[in-house]
Amino acid sequence: MGLRMMVTGASGTMGQELVKLLDKSGVDFIAASRSLDRLPAGIRGLQLNYDSAPLLEQAFRDIDVLFFLQPFAENMVQQATNVFRAARAAGVQFVLRVSGFGASVSSPYLYQRVQGEVDELLKNSGLRYCLLRPNIFMQSFVNPWGEALRQGILYLPQGEGRISFLHARDAAEVAARILTDPLYFHKFSFDLTGERALSNAEVVSLISYQVQRRVCYVPVTEEVAIKSMQKSAIEPWDVELMMSIHRAAKDGKIAEVSESFRQLMNRDPRRFEDFSKEMREEWIPPTPVLEPPLL
Ligand SMILES: NC(=O)c1ccc[n+]([C@@H]2O[C@H](COP(=O)([O-])OP(=O)(O)OC[C@H]3O[C@@H](n4cnc5c(N)ncnc54)[C@H](OP(=O)(O)O)[C@@H]3O)[C@@H](O)[C@H]2O)c1
Repeated sequence: MGLRMMVTGASGTMGQELVKLLDKSGVDFIAASRSLDRLPAGIRGLQLNYDSAPLLEQAFRDIDVLFFLQPFAENMVQQATNVFRAARAAGVQFVLRVSGFGASVSSPYLYQRVQGEVDELLKNSGLRYCLLRPNIFMQSFVNPWGEALRQGILYLPQGEGRISFLHARDAAEVAARILTDPLYFHKFSFDLTGERALSNAEVVSLISYQVQRRVCYVPVTEEVAIKSMQKSAIEPWDVELMMSIHRAAKDGKIAEVSESFRQLMNRDPRRFEDFSKEMREEWIPPTPVLEPPLL
């Protein structure tokens, strides 16, 4: 019998892509979400919440390999502690974790530091593991920045900083590749980026071309960005986390291009041009419904 796998985060940006790939390849896996109705139809699913520590061990009982993805949350380290403890107790053999580009406990940027802390937890957990460190997904221009782009102006405090954005499907393809022979990849970690770094001005120009309409990027100050997030009642930790990503971008710290994708997959990562073509409908504002004139 092959290794039994669980895909967590299966309803998310990268998880959905991975589920499609594994399903297409006929891999036996179970997909997890906090809510079964968020999982794609026809996929074997399981309800799972990293905050429900007592239930995790039971959930991992029949699993050999765990694909573990967790979103940023203030209690991220606690959630990961719950997961690794339960995985160990349940006899999981291998964890493929989605970390983030630049993850390090000594990073000056909160979002990289917290990823670094979870990486260290996994390394010291006694579990076998592999770490994926993808840079920001191109899909960020659909969610969360899609609405701003539909309205025509993207305000961000990233100055002229560049980011080597990665297509989430490329990240999923790497994960699927590793899951074909997970134990071989024990202790590996892969920095995953796109084929070049782009500034937001370049990104909106590529999007403008696709939608045949002018879309602008306006760099704003940190103060403006923080005030706008506070006005939307975003929690202080989440504000700090978002600001740390913006600062890393502005400081040019996430512009590096890694060769890992090419080495693993024997092809170039997808280009932003391809992504923007694929997603163009997302940036087209809905046509206003005109009321018939009153007679
Ligand atoms: N977004 C990016 O650009 C990007 C780039 C590189 C790396 N990453 C890394 O990928 C990770 C996730 O990124 P994201 O925010 O973009 O993900 P996402 O697409 O929003 O997906 C998050 C997933 O986590 C699941 N989830 C949330 N809370 C959970 C809980 N308490 N228990 C179990 N499952 C839970 C959600 O499933 P349900 O809601 O269905 O439960 C969802 O499928 C982060 O660690 C991030 O650093 C993201």
